[in-house]
Amino acid sequence: MGNAVKLSTFLEANTNIDLAKLILSLAEGCKIIGRLVNNAGLSGIIGTTGDTNVQGETVQKLDDLSNKILMDYLRASETCAGYLSEENEGIATLNQNGKYIISVDPLDGSSNIDVCAPIGTIFNIYERLSGAGDVSDADFFQKGMETKAGGYVIYGSSTILVFSTSNGVTGFTLSTEDNDFYLSHPDMKMPEKGKIYSLNQGNTEKFGEGVKNFIAYCTMVDKETSRPYSLRYIGSMVGDLHRNLIKGGIFIYPANKGEKKGKLRLLYECIPMSFLTEQAGGKATDGTQRILEIQPTELHERTAIFIGSKNLVEKAEEFLKG
Ligand code: AHG
Ligand code: MN
Ligand code: MN
Repeated sequence: MGNAVKLSTFLEANTNIDLAKLILSLAEGCKIIGRLVNNAGLSGIIGTTGDTNVQGETVQKLDDLSNKILMDYLRASETCAGYLSEENEGIATLNQNGKYIISVDPLDGSSNIDVCAPIGTIFNIYERLSGAGDVSDADFFQKGMETKAGGYVIYGSSTILVFSTSNGVTGFTLSTEDNDFYLSHPDMKMPEKGKIYSLNQGNTEKFGEGVKNFIAYCTMVDKETSRPYSLRYIGSMVGDLHRNLIKGGIFIYPANKGEKKGKLRLLYECIPMSFLTEQAGGKATDGTQRILEIQPTELHERTAIFIGSKNLVEKAEEFLKG
């Protein structure tokens, strides 16, 4: 791969050894998940397990496998003390003396598995608050502002790891030549002015007036602001966020009549994506406050989210205030 910078080299130079070990273990696990995703149709692992998870959602076989793979690899890191996952009801202690804890969505957008659309793994890393021994729920109830590292791996036309350790956002592409991650997207910046809006517009009737009015604003013709904006929605937060991070845009999952706090989970979907977005110069809010300032009180709690380019998030906030 010539002079391309390896993930391990980058981590050695940019973070401490414990965090580097943890991120490298995570990346190894995600390589395995990526291979499974690529070969899903051939390996007979498309489809559901027949179970529902703690959130009452259908579990795909790959959701379950990805969760087990991550737990195994993170245990092997020796520095990951605790593990919270969309697929597990409670937290797990992986290493009694580990310094860090992780929250993961092992496979995000898993309803897209069967149709070969981009899916991903989302993760957020905190320092544990408890000294040693078993981790507790309280370790995970930290505001997003305390995040030490956060990001995602997208399994799309390429497999790319995008993360931040509070020092900007960097992307590493998995080479199919030697199965290693190489620096491909240095210093990623969320364009300040986006022209894409992403939400499940089919739910419009269930949204509040503020969101409805923002959608009307996006679809209005106005030469000066290049409207109407383009609607792009994959239905996989990782896929939609990755596109918007590169091209600029806003991703919205609002509260609605059926889901008073929205659908997406605070600790392993919204906080890591908001941390990353802010690190890239964008914004993220639940409509009234910055996502990174929300005090978590439940492991699987949900929140509404408006996230992306500054101009669009600020415009959405204007409509939400009424
Ligand atoms: P998951 O597959 O981890 O349950 O997450 C799916 C999420 C998210 O990725 C996506 O943005 C959203 O669900 C799509 O929901 P709708 O189908 O309601 O639009
Ligand atoms: Mn998800
Ligand atoms: Mn998931």
